[in-house]
Amino acid sequence: MVPQTLVITGTDSGVGKTVLTALLARHLRDSGTLVRAAKPLCSGGREDAEALHSALDGALSLDQINPWYFRAPLAPLLAARRERRHVRQVEVLAHLREMRADCQVLLVEGAGGLLSPLGEDFDLRHLIIGLRAVPIVVAPNRLGVLNQVLLVRAALPEAARRRLQVVLMSERQPDFSSHSNPALLTELIDVEHVHHLPWLRKLSSPTDWRIDPTVRRALQRLFKCCVSCNRSPTACG
Ligand SMILES: Nc1ncnc2c1ncn2[C@@H]1O[C@H](COP(=O)(O)OP(=O)(O)O)[C@@H](O)[C@H]1O
Ligand SMILES: [Mg+2]
Repeated sequence: MVPQTLVITGTDSGVGKTVLTALLARHLRDSGTLVRAAKPLCSGGREDAEALHSALDGALSLDQINPWYFRAPLAPLLAARRERRHVRQVEVLAHLREMRADCQVLLVEGAGGLLSPLGEDFDLRHLIIGLRAVPIVVAPNRLGVLNQVLLVRAALPEAARRRLQVVLMSERQPDFSSHSNPALLTELIDVEHVHHLPWLRKLSSPTDWRIDPTVRRALQRLFKCCVSCNRSPTACG
């Protein structure tokens, strides 16, 4: 398999990026794929990196998964500046390329949303382009999600936009729009690019991430679409 890089972003913080990244990591690892995962920049805690560490059964160190971390719960650029540190695109890309060199799939979780400032000269779009990655946007399936997804899509550079995959994340309590959002989004984007994950009632800690068959099928389909978009981006939307 040609090495794949998938970059996971979201319409906001707290929408399920870490949940999806960890589930994908666990699923791919379970199916015999050599997968690595990174959350290159963390601010305000390293829980996301710890979740990925646990999803990969400790196959990578926390510092490999997350080389840059800052104390303040702010956008990474600001949190770094408070510690008089300055992170540049070139060093983050070098780390991610090195991680990718000896695996089949590299998963990269962003911080915040697509345009959140990550370092002195970059946001997640630069990493997506620099890694020729498939962008995945996680979005909570509730009222407002269509606008949020379309805004993220519009903000992506064109080459990446054609590869975009959307994961609608179910909420504990669906609202009136939750039922109709997937069909309309499919109409607005493309059926091959819209995915859906259920609310996972048992998700209390990363060690509980046993994947049930419905979720496994959704992850399989998502990964398949990512690979086929990467192979032939012109065929994607
Ligand atoms: N599909 C889901 N099922 C159950 N809990 C979820 C689901 N998606 C997100 N959550 C919960 O929502 C919270 C935020 O998710 P997280 O993945 O940390 O978001 P992000 O990485 O986008 O900030 C976490 O407590 C997580 O367990
Ligand atoms: Mg996260």
